[in-house]
Amino acid sequence: MCGIVGYIGKKQALPILLQGLRDLEYRGYDSAGIAVLDNRKIDRVREVGKVDMLAKKIGQDKFVGTIGIAHTRWATHGGVTESNAHPHIVGEGKLVLVHNGIIENYREIKKQLKNQHQESETDSEILGQLIFENYQGDLMKAVKQALLKVRGTYGIVVMHADHPNQLVAARLGSPLCIGIGDKEYYIASDVTPMLPFTKQVTFLDDGEIASINGDGLKILNMRDEIINKTVTQIDWDQAKAQKGGFENFMLKEIFDQPTVFEDAIRGRFNVDEGTAVLGGLNMTLEQMRDIKRVMIIAEGTARHAGLIAKYAFERLANLPTEVDFSSEFRYRDPVVNKNTLVFVISQSGETADTLMAAREAKRKGAVVRGIVNVVGSTIARETKAGTYIHAGPELAVASTKAYTNMVAVLLLYALQFGRIKHTSLATGQRLLQGLLEIPEKMNEILKQTDSIQNIAKQYQQYHNILFMGRGVNYPVALEGALKLEEISYIHAEGLAAGAMKHGPLALISKDVPVVAILSKDQLYEKMKSSIQEVRARGARTLVIATVGDEEAKEVADDIIYVPDTMELLEPLLNTIPLQLFAYYIAVALGRDVDRPRNLAKSVTVE
Ligand code: M6R
Repeated sequence: MCGIVGYIGKKQALPILLQGLRDLEYRGYDSAGIAVLDNRKIDRVREVGKVDMLAKKIGQDKFVGTIGIAHTRWATHGGVTESNAHPHIVGEGKLVLVHNGIIENYREIKKQLKNQHQESETDSEILGQLIFENYQGDLMKAVKQALLKVRGTYGIVVMHADHPNQLVAARLGSPLCIGIGDKEYYIASDVTPMLPFTKQVTFLDDGEIASINGDGLKILNMRDEIINKTVTQIDWDQAKAQKGGFENFMLKEIFDQPTVFEDAIRGRFNVDEGTAVLGGLNMTLEQMRDIKRVMIIAEGTARHAGLIAKYAFERLANLPTEVDFSSEFRYRDPVVNKNTLVFVISQSGETADTLMAAREAKRKGAVVRGIVNVVGSTIARETKAGTYIHAGPELAVASTKAYTNMVAVLLLYALQFGRIKHTSLATGQRLLQGLLEIPEKMNEILKQTDSIQNIAKQYQQYHNILFMGRGVNYPVALEGALKLEEISYIHAEGLAAGAMKHGPLALISKDVPVVAILSKDQLYEKMKSSIQEVRARGARTLVIATVGDEEAKEVADDIIYVPDTMELLEPLLNTIPLQLFAYYIAVALGRDVDRPRNLAKSVTVE
């Protein structure tokens, strides 16, 4: 996730900004930059790579000035290059901007700009130009007027050469906070960079815009009303602050899900048409109609996201869909051709097996598309077309928010194909409406964290735990088991409930509990019977049920309720309690949750 730092006060800004960028490094980034204003002159430096490389580039340069802004970029629009790095300078070299977030309608805005020349490929520079074209002497007003024309998310800080004692900051969906010192202010994406200087912090809320100068702080909403903010005393140390106050990155990333989910779907659908609009597919309608099969290749959690998509492609688009481990695909003789659409899914975009499988599919003439989180990663570059999932940097080894965003993007792809085949407008619209409701429903589940923690503690002593589900919830069982085993080291298996009596039922005893996903869908009764079967053989059962399903209690020793949704969307909700369940067992066992033994975040070797 990109990081912003700003300073205005009496001290030299450069060392504060540079240290601030280092404090934000944990968020993940691929380039960085700083701009300092002095005597109406803006000095700016940007560099691809680490903050150390930026510092090296600055070298002995003085960059005098007591006001400045800085940024670590995690690419979303435009590759990882110096000219795409922030701060962006626009408007005859006078206006400087740093931006986090995504400007959804940047193409429309660009068409309306007087100045059609851009230095970068970013939506952020377009926003800067829009602000400049609205500027008539009042910087705060210009920012506000520009933002009223914007759709998307932003956390921005703007500086202008003719306003040497003012920073303007605004937020919508991308956090910004302001640290208050003695006639000085610190601005940042989170409190980490300001903690060495002040513990007094105010948090901008969505739709607020702040004008900050050495003497004071004025915060307005978009209707120009003055907002009186409370100032919070922050008692966190820096390590805790980096995790947003959570104990571990994994827990933070679980809680990130409702927010980043919106980033995955934003601007990628058309409700009127009941369809998805994924530009990255890069195929004409005719080419789409020529696709006869879908293949999904991935590893681990990414593969589980692919398994869910299989149900969606088959149901919505009537396309036979196969899902394989990348490591298997590359060594068998896969039957693919120009009518096969191959999706390669990877959070890191660097998984060696997945990369090799993508190359193999291309060699065999398939149409290959990447679904990747890390912008500019090898898989993203080599597949050329495809879609970024916009989950932001995922730092914990156990993948959580990348999974839900992968599922979201895959569902949109299935819908896009479905709508040119047999999916009706009404079904398409219902699915989109369901997707739009997911973040709120995820929040409902996250509110139950304390009770999930209590349940989890009661399962920590078991050596084997089975997970079972059916239909779209079979991959959820696989994912629940993977999460648990990788961070707690408890042996766990995900099973298709219907397959229990063909073997795995022999494992059941009072020492082997079963986590079962029992959603109110077409397989409800069958799933309930499977739970009864394991209970009859002594297993303790934890049931993930749909809110309002009182009958589920009949087969549950422990129960977690999740909100109702369309069947194809159930995995987006049902997985979250399982992530928390795994997390709290691992914590109770004293495991290193973010860095489990023997595992790496990015598996770049075969
Ligand atoms: O970066 P990728 O998505 O390609 O990684 C694939 C797997 O290595 C990954 O999902 C792994 O299974 C995670 N540790 C699961 O939490």
